[in-house]
Amino acid sequence: MERKVVCVTGGSGFIGSWIVKLLIQGGYTVHATVQHLNDEKETKHLEALEGAESGLRLFQMDLLDYDSLLAAIKGTIGVFHVASPCTVDRVTDPQLYYYPHNQMAKQVPQSDSTSKSQCGQPYRWVEACYLSSFFKTALYAEKAAWEFAKDTGLDVVVIHPGFVLGPILPPVLNASMIMLLRLLEGSTEEYGHFYMGPVHVKDVALAQILLYENLSASGRHLCVEVINHWSDFATKLAELYPEYKVPRFPKDTQPGLLRTEDGAKKLIDLGIQFTSMEETIKVSVESLKSKGYIS
Ligand SMILES: NC(=O)c1ccc[n+]([C@@H]2O[C@H](COP(=O)([O-])OP(=O)(O)OC[C@H]3O[C@@H](n4cnc5c(N)ncnc54)[C@H](OP(=O)(O)O)[C@@H]3O)[C@@H](O)[C@H]2O)c1
Repeated sequence: MERKVVCVTGGSGFIGSWIVKLLIQGGYTVHATVQHLNDEKETKHLEALEGAESGLRLFQMDLLDYDSLLAAIKGTIGVFHVASPCTVDRVTDPQLYYYPHNQMAKQVPQSDSTSKSQCGQPYRWVEACYLSSFFKTALYAEKAAWEFAKDTGLDVVVIHPGFVLGPILPPVLNASMIMLLRLLEGSTEEYGHFYMGPVHVKDVALAQILLYENLSASGRHLCVEVINHWSDFATKLAELYPEYKVPRFPKDTQPGLLRTEDGAKKLIDLGIQFTSMEETIKVSVESLKSKGYIS
């Protein structure tokens, strides 16, 4: 059977590399984008994935370079748009967040009408956003995607992962795993402007693939195991790992944020079974240990 070809922008990243891994396992051919093809830190962990030899093609892509975006999506029947500078620090170039939607999305339905009819599946764009007032740019990005979808009929589904943790595939740490590492090292930063919802990276990747494959899925999807405060998360981490210097926070760290167990009801109804926060913490800390970030 002919393999379906999809694109994962930001395929080298923490979440992206899990999506690439699961898509290849699922029989897809993946066009994964990296920023620098000649940098082994961005490519080697992807090339080492099982099935990569036949199921993976790497593309050098810069979010602000239209031609590089187009080359990566050409010949595909869907896009998992994950690439984005993801930082706990302030954003310096908001263009990076909304440019791709205005430029890249423009090409999607037109460029691949042939593969669309061959596979009998409409072109689908899965967008990963960060739901936080701190990351206003991501909200602009989502708005741009929705507006474009309205104007052109492009099939867009959106996912809002919370605080993504889990086994690390790339050789560099992403922002959320750095936050966990800092907490283990005793940082008292409260991230008051973040919305908190721990979730396992594999569940995020599975949810994105589910949203891509399930054509009845539409709209926005919160992707968290639980919604809680940084203080709740720190308390659980300290309880599980008393040997580290995890601080206790005497008060709520996200004032006004309502705690809930089933915030991701829409994804649960679609069949996602979320890993518990306790299990997610354990595999994340063990991954940090095995990679030598902590002893
Ligand atoms: N981690 C979380 O807790 C979390 C939560 C919600 C949403 N998200 C969203 O999920 C996405 C991925 O997050 P992540 O944690 O996997 O981050 P990450 O590990 O830092 O991955 C970011 C990816 O984007 C690529 N990228 C960055 N700037 C780029 C540019 N200018 N041009 C082309 N590619 C660029 C990176 O490429 P290189 O590796 O080649 O540099 C990398 O593949 C982001 O959109 C983030 O906002 C993350």
